[in-house]
Amino acid sequence: MAENKTVTMEKLVSLCKSRGIIFPGSEIYGGMGNTWDYGPVGVEMKNNIKRAWWKRFVQESENSFGVDAAILMNSRVWDASGHTTSFTDPKMDCKECKSRHRADTLIEAHSKGKVNPDAMTNEEMEAYIQEHHVCCPVCGKFNWTGIRTFNLMFETSRGVTDENQNKIYLRPETAQGEFVNFLNVQRTTRAKVPFGIAQIGKAFRNEITPGNFIFRTIEFEQMEHQWFCKQGTDSEYYALFKKKAWDFLIDLGFSPEHLRYKDHDKLAHYAKEACDIQYLFPMGWSELNGIHNRTDYDLSRHQEYSGKSMTYIDPVDNSRYIPYVVEYSIGADRLMLAVLSEAYEEQTLEGGDVRTVLHLHPAVAAYKAAVLPLQKNLAPQAKEWHAKLSKLFMTAYDEAGSIGKRYRRQDEIGTPYCLTVDFQTLEDGTVTVRDRDSMEQTRLTLEEAIRFLTEKVAFN
Ligand code: GAP
Repeated sequence: MAENKTVTMEKLVSLCKSRGIIFPGSEIYGGMGNTWDYGPVGVEMKNNIKRAWWKRFVQESENSFGVDAAILMNSRVWDASGHTTSFTDPKMDCKECKSRHRADTLIEAHSKGKVNPDAMTNEEMEAYIQEHHVCCPVCGKFNWTGIRTFNLMFETSRGVTDENQNKIYLRPETAQGEFVNFLNVQRTTRAKVPFGIAQIGKAFRNEITPGNFIFRTIEFEQMEHQWFCKQGTDSEYYALFKKKAWDFLIDLGFSPEHLRYKDHDKLAHYAKEACDIQYLFPMGWSELNGIHNRTDYDLSRHQEYSGKSMTYIDPVDNSRYIPYVVEYSIGADRLMLAVLSEAYEEQTLEGGDVRTVLHLHPAVAAYKAAVLPLQKNLAPQAKEWHAKLSKLFMTAYDEAGSIGKRYRRQDEIGTPYCLTVDFQTLEDGTVTVRDRDSMEQTRLTLEEAIRFLTEKVAFN
């Protein structure tokens, strides 16, 4: 099994806070459990992750189309999808310290991942906790309530007076916005099955046991892609999306040793096949994304609950059917955590110095280049370079401190190239280009630097 290097969650949280990647949410008010704010560097990285995903799954796909559906949807959507009745977690309260826990998480932690509670009923989980005397992780006592199910959807209401308020929900997944628009997209694009609908957007879940930094939060972004296909071809596409999801991660720079497929032990009643790709996070192997063969369940349910036909009419043979759906779903924030964790290294240099460096794919790095005047009196020339490069790329500028310290600051946020303006720049118009990973340096003119950066920062 692969070792996951020097990175710990504490180190990541601390680096993110000190370098403007991610801050605790509402920090000046003492924070708000499990919310996080992306800072100037983090917002660029997350946007770049989303762009890379969109490029791969929409732009480069012959037959996939994007939507941006409303977060607030008609409540009947959630009745049809099953979320109002079944989107629950098994919760237990510690009667001693009043802390609240998920029974499945308690079992997973107690058994160190050896027991998979996904396949257990509530009664079986209760029995396990009793038999193994699983104590409260907060106070160490053993005095539990029974398991109660707890719906994860955040409720709100719409209406102008108290009397006519209707309960609505913050969407717990983006997928339903893709399902309800299936025929809108099909008609307006004239797409033929098979085709895909993709969406990136916020989702909200009242998670009882959130934690592990941005791994599990109550507000997060999902990148979801539904592939609508004919029954009989579904398993072939399921296999294809398993591979596409894996290849995307490899192309982002993940080591295959830190990734693995994990088939679901217990399938949802509508699912034919389902698996996760797990990543070796600092806290251990955990789900990074999911791939599901959801059959015709979602569209059939929407047809039933809305009374509107979800039938596709094949223009070639005039056959009519409700397509099957293969879903690929990944959290943008969870992927961000995996990307940071994969990229983090504390590297001991010749002479014993240690540098912290994020070996990010240049497409993900917040800044593609940093322009650094060797000395302050070279600032005018350096600012000219910065102005020209920032028309094309996110480019940082830094003139504070020694050049070594400035390199380290850029290494810590993963800037792939530092361009140093020095006295030779005044003579021949070239700058030193320092590579973040190898720390090797070459000299390039502005035109050469633009060509070089354009090639290096592309995500292909
Ligand atoms: N439409 C299917 C669906 O929502 P899911 O497994 O519940 O499936 C898909 O979520 C992905 O969304 C997960 O693999 C994970 O990457 C991300 N995700 C789910 N819950 C999350 C949370 N509370 N915080 C951050 N990311 C989450």
